[in-house]
Formats: sequence, C-alpha cells, structure tokens
Amino acid sequence: MTASVISAESIPRSGSATQGAIELRQVSKVYGDVVAVDQLDLTVQPGEFVTLVGPSGSGKTTTMMMVAGFEEHTACSVLIDGKPVDTLPPRDRNLGVVFQNYALFPHMSALENVEFALRMRKVPRAERRQRAEDALDRVGLGKMGDRKPRQLSGGQQQRVALARALVFNPAALLLDEPMAALDKRLREQMQEEIKTLQKSLGISVLFVTHDQDEAMAMSDRIVVMRDGKIVQSGPPEEVYNHPLTDWVASFLGDTNLIPCTVVERNGEEAVVDLGGLGLARVRDRGATGGNYAVSVRPEHLKFSSAAVASNGCAATLVSSTNLGATVRHRVTAGGHELQLRELSSDGGTRLPAEELWVSWDAEKAQLLVLES
Ligand SMILES: Nc1ncnc2c1ncn2[C@@H]1O[C@H](COP(=O)(O)OP(=O)(O)OP(=O)(O)O)[C@@H](O)[C@H]1O
Ligand SMILES: [Mg+2]
Repeated sequence: MTASVISAESIPRSGSATQGAIELRQVSKVYGDVVAVDQLDLTVQPGEFVTLVGPSGSGKTTTMMMVAGFEEHTACSVLIDGKPVDTLPPRDRNLGVVFQNYALFPHMSALENVEFALRMRKVPRAERRQRAEDALDRVGLGKMGDRKPRQLSGGQQQRVALARALVFNPAALLLDEPMAALDKRLREQMQEEIKTLQKSLGISVLFVTHDQDEAMAMSDRIVVMRDGKIVQSGPPEEVYNHPLTDWVASFLGDTNLIPCTVVERNGEEAVVDLGGLGLARVRDRGATGGNYAVSVRPEHLKFSSAAVASNGCAATLVSSTNLGATVRHRVTAGGHELQLRELSSDGGTRLPAEELWVSWDAEKAQLLVLES
C-alpha cells in the first residue's frame, strides 16, 4: 500500500460544479490531405472526467491541442463555460494542461516551474511564491521545490507538471497521456491521486490514454475515436459491455464475436440465431447495419456441467493457459471457437476430457454491427 501524497485540503476552488464545461461544436482539423479531426461534437460537463481513447493517429492529441488553443481549428467552435474561445490564446482559456511532451523547464527549479504559470498570468510576486508552494505541497513535493527537473524521478516530474497545471485554479484540466512514461505501480498510484484530486476539487478533466484499464478506472465517460470521429461514447461499463460495433468491441479488449441473424427485436432485447449455437436472447442498443454479430466478453462466458436451455451449448475444451491471475480456456462450441476467462482460483481443476457446457447471461451478450 502506498499512501496518497496528493491532498486537496484548503485549496481555493474555482472548479465548482458550475464551471469547467468544455464544448466542441463540429470542430475539424485538416493537415494537407489528412483530416485529423472530422466535425467533432464533444461535451465535457462541469466536474466530469471524460477520456478519449482510440488508435494511434485517431485525432486525440489534435482535439486536446485545439481545446488548449495550441492548434487552430478549421471550422466552427470551441466553447468553455458557454463562451467561444476560438480567438483566445492558451493562457487566457483557464485550462490546466499536462501533455506528455509539454516538459518542465530544465533550468528552473520545481518551484519556479510552478510559479511560471502564475507569472504568465501576472499574479503578484509574493502571492506567486505562496501559491506555488501550496500547489507543490498538494502533490506531495513540498520539500523538493528547490530541485531541478533532472534531480527528480519521472513520477515526481509528472507531479510538478500537475502542480503547474493546478496552481492557477483552472476551470478544467487537459491531460494527454500524462502517465505514459511511468512504471505500472507509480502509474496506478498517480491514477488514484489524480482521481481523488479531481473529485475533491470538482474540476472537469479531458484525459487521453492508451491504457484501457486506466480509462475504465478513471472515467465518468469514455469517448472512442477513430479516424477523427467519435464512434461511441458512454460510461465505461456501458461502452465495454455494450459496444455498438465489432471494431469498438475489439478495441476495448478481448471478445468473442459470433456472427448471427436477427430474428426479433424488442427494444432493449433481441432474439438472434447463432447458427450452431442456437437461438439466444441478447442486449440490443439499436445498432443497424448489413451484418450482425453478438459480442460476449471471455470473462462473461461460464462453464456448467449440466445442459443449458438457452444462451449456451455443449462445448469441447481445446486448451487452457494459466496467465497468472486468470486462466484462458479455448473451447469449440456449435462450430465456433470461443475464449473463456476465469479467475485462476476457480479454473484450475478442469480436464480436457470432461463434458462441458458453456453459457452466458443475456444481459452480457451484445448485438452489434460488423463493420471491420
Ligand atoms: N502537425 C501535423 N502535421 C501534419 N499531420 C499531423 C500533424 N499533427 C498530427 N497530424 C496527423 O493527424 C492525425 C491525428 O494525429 P493525433 O496526434 O491527433 O493522433 P493521436 O490520436 O493523438 O495519436 P497517438 O495515439 O499516436 O498519440 C494523424 O494522422 C497525424 O499524422
Ligand atoms: Mg496523441
């Protein structure tokens, strides 16, 4: 257990529940013949933690740069708290920014780096020092203000960058892969700390990460981008459990995709024909297209020793691989190869010769459109 070092006590709050709304209306960015961001509509509510995910080159950083004001956009408008900021320079947008490549000044101490953000905003000298010290305290670096960045670890440098982004009480934070360079342990610690700080300040955050677990753990809402467009957006569990397309399902982790034909659609539920796997009831979010499939995550498939009436069938175990905390099983069922994932503690004793059935809960199976 590592104790949290970031504290949010006695911070003057500007990020109250009524501030920090970010809105992009039909915003685009074109570089030559590359459409980096394509008529994007995106809203971050005051106090909301929104994470952009998507493959490399899908337009996440470009979106952040346009919100921050480092990059001009080609069309329409960026609004902060309802006011267009398109012509405002970055420092007048009241946004705290931590980008992976937005480094600390190497010749300045940690304290001077944090103070710099206030100097830019013409805060009087005496007040500057005090506020910078408070901000470093808040990220657990109160005693390291004199150190130059090279005398700090990667994680400590990220904390200085965070202090610099928070010191002027911004309405919102923009964090573009702020922890990409950190090792797993430090990363998890920083995740918790940023989340704690965000909640206690009530500040809104627009975040970018390549780490699915990080996105799932930290976000109120995940926005999945592809080729400069939003392909799905929603609370983490919603996007993970109910992807609208096979592309989103596969992007957000392992899944079993079983091609199907739709027999009946009744609002939230559909009946589908899974060929050799028979008829099944599945969740329906209304996706429409040419070809359909059902997505069931490996951890949502279960073994049972008795025959199942629906949403399952007899299966043959092909292989089992122990991955440490979990065991991955491959089975064939109804002419399909499926993957199951169980906790190691639950899955160690099964033998390949055993007669098996696999099944799943209807609410864990999602009807989606095959597009890739
Ligand atoms: N200054 C630039 N000039 C030309 N093309 C650019 C420029 N910056 C970005 N692009 C292009 O715009 C597209 C989106 O880039 P962007 O950096 O926003 O992607 P990203 O989603 O942040 O990717 P990553 O996950 O790799 O950071 C890419 O095709 C990229 O090559
Ligand atoms: Mg990027």
